[in-house]
Amino acid sequence: MTINRRTVMAAGAAGVAAAAAGTAPAFAAGGTERPGGRPAKELFGTLPDGTRVHRWTVAAGGTRLSVLSYGGIVQALEIPDRRGRYANVSLGFDNLEDYVAGSPYFGAIIGRYGNRIAGGAFTLDGSTYRLPVNDDPNSLHGGDKGFDKRVWDVEPYAQGPDTGLTLRYVSADGEMGYPGTLRIRVDYVLTPRGDFRIDYVATTDRATVVNLTNHTYFNLAGEGGGSILDHNLRIAASRYTPVDATLIPTGELAKVAHTPFDFRSGKPIGRDIRDAHPQVVFGRGYDHNFALDKGLTDAPQHVATVTEPVHGRVMKIATTEPGLQFYSGNFLDATLAGTSGKVYRQGDGFCLETQHFPDSPNQPNFPSTVLRPGRTYRSTTVHSFTAR
Ligand code: BGC
Repeated sequence: MTINRRTVMAAGAAGVAAAAAGTAPAFAAGGTERPGGRPAKELFGTLPDGTRVHRWTVAAGGTRLSVLSYGGIVQALEIPDRRGRYANVSLGFDNLEDYVAGSPYFGAIIGRYGNRIAGGAFTLDGSTYRLPVNDDPNSLHGGDKGFDKRVWDVEPYAQGPDTGLTLRYVSADGEMGYPGTLRIRVDYVLTPRGDFRIDYVATTDRATVVNLTNHTYFNLAGEGGGSILDHNLRIAASRYTPVDATLIPTGELAKVAHTPFDFRSGKPIGRDIRDAHPQVVFGRGYDHNFALDKGLTDAPQHVATVTEPVHGRVMKIATTEPGLQFYSGNFLDATLAGTSGKVYRQGDGFCLETQHFPDSPNQPNFPSTVLRPGRTYRSTTVHSFTAR
């Protein structure tokens, strides 16, 4: 069993650790402060090799976002409920050591390839590339040192009325087995109305495959606030990609109708999560790619809505991507204590990862994830927050 540092810390030590970490004003979950101001930078910790990791905090329109240069991790995302009370709705840690010791991708940028590639291998233009097998027998989320474990260059973003952060990383040719030097820019943008937009742009100098996403685990009652099984979820997808026992798509696009995967008119996440449907059994809950009805689009289109019933926080997701991985936090197993000191149990957070379909490099019928020199990879996802 892995126990993170926070598990053995006294609860009161959390505030001390946060205060020691830097100068950004404390933003008490449950408080009523209104965020505002320019991006603030503070030291968050130091990696074993001596690299300093910073936390950047930016706020606009009632949303406050804290991001680490390590992994581009969304370390906190604070939004109000229907009574104006703020909570951090993203799972994570209050210290760098816990992220480095073993985080299930809390809040991180995922790449070079989000989700699984079967057998850790793919063939492109006649050459076969071998990737780290870090989720036996497959390669998951870009290998054992994916973009979630890299240190990104971060600077303030400002364009028109928007504010935010620009993150850059150059992934070397051959890194984690992938061909081509990939130059990635990720903008974390807050709009004046408090929407959180993520713009991804990447270019390569050799043909490669790319599938970038963000792995924030949400709990709209506030992280550490218990189970998300009561959250109502709506996904505009009539089909999903069933998987084998190792969570690799079979290649089929199955209809959601009359299955636990039908979220088209909205239902509590927990309603069918104990159904004996073989796909639910394989995923230990939901861990599936939904083929969005709108497909791949140039502009982001609304694809999902999550409503938390007690505090009334609502999150809407719009994306350019053709797929959405809905993961119901099945592998959270009470071995990690999060930012507020509470232990995370199964179903205490959910991810909605906008993406191309898993294993696309080996699935000729899925939308292509190949990026060639001279072309630009672009992807945009918008999270909008309201309360009702
Ligand atoms: C995957 C899960 C995996 C999780 C990592 C998700 O994107 O679909 O299978 O366990 O990431 O925590």
